[in-house]
Amino acid sequence: MNFDKVIDSRRSIRSFKTKKVKYSKVLEAIDAARKAPTAGNTPTLVYIIIENPQLKDKIAELSDQHWIADAGIIVLVCSDDHALESIYFDRGKTYARQQAGAAIQNFLLKITDLSLSSCWVGSFSDKLIKQIVGIPNHIQLEAILPVGYAAEKPRFPKKGSLEKSLYWEKWFIRKRPTPFKDPPTK
Ligand SMILES: Cc1cc2nc3c(=O)[nH]c(=O)nc-3n(C[C@H](O)[C@H](O)[C@H](O)COP(=O)(O)O)c2cc1C
Repeated sequence: MNFDKVIDSRRSIRSFKTKKVKYSKVLEAIDAARKAPTAGNTPTLVYIIIENPQLKDKIAELSDQHWIADAGIIVLVCSDDHALESIYFDRGKTYARQQAGAAIQNFLLKITDLSLSSCWVGSFSDKLIKQIVGIPNHIQLEAILPVGYAAEKPRFPKKGSLEKSLYWEKWFIRKRPTPFKDPPTK
């Protein structure tokens, strides 16, 4: 898919067809995720691939988001902050969250490129999900990424204008010294 098309067509999808998802496609998306930038080139993430229906049901229940169980495959994104904290101290924790976000976005874009769909799920009971999957206490569960074929076509959500997302030269200076206009949308 063309790059702009991938960016523009990615949507959070919360309804999936029963069509089976090949794990090899999910591996391609994880491969894209692990190529995201990392502070000091220090990797911190592992991805747990879940296909077992009972485990999927349990994760959906512990997230209080029952649609998750309908995904063909669920990926749990997990961070071990230790290496980053030992290099960057307190900032290491911030870097760990940031590089998880970068990896998750790469994953979502590759999933879109493969004509699959997902949704970044951040609301769940960390403790209980970690328990049932055997994730050690010191590991952060960053996100749940259910993957499937979309059974819905949500509208493009309001994202605000480009112009309103900008300051120029200094905090809160909304006007460019020479007039600025949003580029035309396609
Ligand atoms: C950190 C984070 C946590 C999120 N958690 C959830 C979630 O728990 N459940 C859910 O349905 N969507 C969740 N989302 C998806 C957002 O609701 C979605 O990205 C937003 O509504 C914009 O829609 P779009 O992704 O289609 O552009 C989360 C997104 C982010 C970035």
